[in-house]
This record gives sequence, C-alpha cells and structure tokens, in this order.
Amino acid sequence: MKLILLGPPGAGKGTQAKRLAEELALPHISTGDILRQNVKDGSLLGKEAKDYMDKGLLVPDDLVARMLKKRMDSEDVKKGFILDGYPRTINQAKTLEEILKEKKVNIDFVFYLDTSDAVIIQRLTGRLVCSSCGANFHATNMPPKKAGICDKCGATLFQRTDDKEETVRKRIEVYKKEVASLVEYYKNLNKLRCLSADKEAGLVLNEIVKFVRAGNDSIKV
Ligand code: AP5
Repeated sequence: MKLILLGPPGAGKGTQAKRLAEELALPHISTGDILRQNVKDGSLLGKEAKDYMDKGLLVPDDLVARMLKKRMDSEDVKKGFILDGYPRTINQAKTLEEILKEKKVNIDFVFYLDTSDAVIIQRLTGRLVCSSCGANFHATNMPPKKAGICDKCGATLFQRTDDKEETVRKRIEVYKKEVASLVEYYKNLNKLRCLSADKEAGLVLNEIVKFVRAGNDSIKV
C-alpha cells in the first residue's frame, strides 16, 4: 500500500501517518522529520534548509527531491509507505511520479485532510514534540500524562521553532498557494479522497483505514 497524506500544516498528517504506520505496518516517510533531523545533525542539507524552515517557506525542490530519492531507495520502502509532507508542489508531484515509475509502482490513495485556519493555529501553537522519539502531543488536545515529559520514552518535550503563530500564518499562506493545483492533479489521476480532519484524531484514522480497506471502489470525488 502506497499512501500520501496531503493537507495544511497542523491538519494532523504526522499524527495520522504514525498511527497508520502502526496499523498497516508500513514505513512513515515525513520530509519535515528528515529535514529536522538534518538540521539537528548539522549536515550540509540541514544547514541549507534551516533558514527556509524557520521562515515557514518551502525548502527548494531539488534539495528535497535528492533527500526523498535516497529515502525511497531504502529496503523497507519496498513493502509500501505513507508519505507525509511530500509532494507540496506540482513539480514535486512529478518528481515523485518519476521515482515511482522507475520502481514500477503506483500510489494507491491520496488523502486530503481538510482543516480550518482557526483549528490549524490552535493545534500548532499548542503542539509539543518529543526530543527523543518524535512523538506528538498537544498542550490541551492531547496532553502528556506528566507535563513536559513524553509518555512513550520519558524524554523532554519541546515546541518546534516554526510553530510560533507568525510563522504558522506564513506556512498557511505558502500552503494555500500550491494546494489547489496539487489537489486537481490527484483528482485527475482518480487517487484523491477528501475528508474533514477537524474532528478527533481517532475518528479521522478510522475513516482513512475504512477507505484503505475498501480499496479503489471507495474513491469518489
Ligand atoms: P512539516 O514538518 O511537513 O510540517 P507541516 O506540513 O507544516 O505539517 P506539520 O508537521 O506542522 O503538521 P501535521 O499536519 O503533521 O500535524 P500534526 O500531526 O503534527 O514541514 C516543516 C517544514 O519543512 C516546512 O515548512 C518546509 O520548510 C519544510 N518541508 C517539509 N517538507 C517539504 C517539502 N516536501 N518541500 C519543501 N519543503 C518542505 O498535528 C499538529 C498538532 O495537532 C499536534 O500537537 C497534534 O497532537 C494535534 N492534533 C493532530 N490531529 C488532531 C486532531 N484530530 N484533533 C486534535 N488535535 C490534533
């Protein structure tokens, strides 16, 4: 199964991708996570990407494409994947198509997680991320059992540098410039399934799983 999760910042792509990865036993590929790891490691890619990320802008396509190609060559991706945060532009969608063509595989579903701006801002300004295992929490929506500590591994939680309200607003603006053409692209390929992500995370997951299990017959746009 090869899935893409599309949606604005804060739609819950990462949250759903992690849960789906467990449910379907597939690797979760987040370009945002890979970029943040590169920034943390101080790699050349991380150094080039950091400024764009801190400003809420997209990292140039060629940098992200190189990074994605490398990840898609990994052994675990052969059984399928859940792509979170890629593609974000038509150019990236075409790059992905080329990568998959070379591997002679196709995307099965593209889930578009629709979310309102007010929900995005509430979610992102309250998001807390584990510094060790990357688990996601929210100060009020999904609080950890012990304040500031990860339920899963006990490491400390932090706020992402791009989750300040001003940067979140910029990320929403950048996202809106690209999304319509991307949605159109996958709609024309008959891969797109839109769902509201303004509801409880478990309900969103159930809906996605239902569509995945129903197969291609469930695609109605
Ligand atoms: P990236 O990390 O991909 O960020 P994003 O797309 O902006 O998405 P987020 O991670 O902010 O949100 P999400 O939808 O995953 O929500 P989450 O599940 O965490 O990218 C960061 C940056 O990297 C970009 O700005 C760009 O610079 C660069 N980049 C990455 N990919 C790139 C690419 N392909 N090309 C170019 N540049 C790229 O949830 C958010 C919060 O809400 C959490 O606290 C969570 O607990 C909570 N929550 C989630 N679901 C629910 C729910 N249903 N109800 C209540 N709370 C919920």
